Amino acid sequence: MVYNPVMRKKYIAGNWKLNNNQKQTSELIAKIIAQGGGFKNADVAVAPPFTSIHAAKQAIGSSGIILCAQNVHFEEKGAFTGEIAPSMLAEAACTAVIIGHSERRQYFGETDETVNKKIHASIKAGLTAIVCVGETLQEREGGKTNDVIHTQLSGAFKDVSDLSKIIIAYEPVWAIGTGKNATTQQAQDVHAFIRGLARQKYGASADGLRILYGGSMKPSNAAELLACPDVDGGLIGGASLIAEDFCAIIRLSS
Ligand code: 13P
Repeated sequence: MVYNPVMRKKYIAGNWKLNNNQKQTSELIAKIIAQGGGFKNADVAVAPPFTSIHAAKQAIGSSGIILCAQNVHFEEKGAFTGEIAPSMLAEAACTAVIIGHSERRQYFGETDETVNKKIHASIKAGLTAIVCVGETLQEREGGKTNDVIHTQLSGAFKDVSDLSKIIIAYEPVWAIGTGKNATTQQAQDVHAFIRGLARQKYGASADGLRILYGGSMKPSNAAELLACPDVDGGLIGGASLIAEDFCAIIRLSS
C-alpha cells in the first residue's frame, strides 16, 4: 500500500481539567471502555489530574486508551516545588502531555517561552506533546487571530526540528467552556493556516500533523467540525466528563 500522508487518524482527547478523583476516574474510564466501541475509528486519550493518573492506568488496562497528563515541568529534577518532570510522567505510563493550555497561560503564567521549553523536555522523554494555541475574543474581533496563532507557534516551536511527537490543538479561548463553539468555517480557516505555517517550516511532514479543535465540542457539533479537512480530532473538556457524550464523539470520528 502506498503511504498517503494526508490520511490522518482522528485523535479524540478528553481534558478533564480539575475533575475526577481516583474513584471517579476508575468509574469514568470503565464506562468509556464499555461504551467506546473498541476505539477503532480514532486514537482516544484521557488527561486526568496528576493524582488520578495511577487509577487511570489501572482502569485503562489493555483497552488502548492513551494516558495523557495536563501539564509538565521543563526541568528534569531539582528545587522546583510542586512540579513534575517529563520522565516522571513517562514512568507513570503517560505517553502524551497537554502543553500551553489557555487556562495555564491565563492563570498560571505559562508563556510561549515556557511552552517551548516544555515541548523540548517532553520530546526528550519520549512523550507526545499536545500543544495548545488560540486567540481571545478581543483578539478575534480585532482581526488578530492569525497573528496571535503565528506568534504562539513561532515561540512554541523554536528549535523544534521535527513534528513526529507533536499534536497541535487549536482552542479559541472564547469557545472554551462557553457553549459557543467555533463555526466550521472559523475552525477550518485557522487549522489550514496552522498547517500552512507547519508546511513552511517542516515541509511535507506537515501533512501528517494532527491538528485538534477544542472549545465546546459536543455530540451535537462534533460531526461537522470533525468533517473539516484540516480538523483531525478534538480536545474536549466538559463533554469528556460524560461517558455517553465522549463516546458519541468518538463514534462520530470515522
Ligand atoms: P470545553 O470542551 O469544556 O469547552 O473545554 C475545551 C478545552 O479547554 C479542552 O482543553
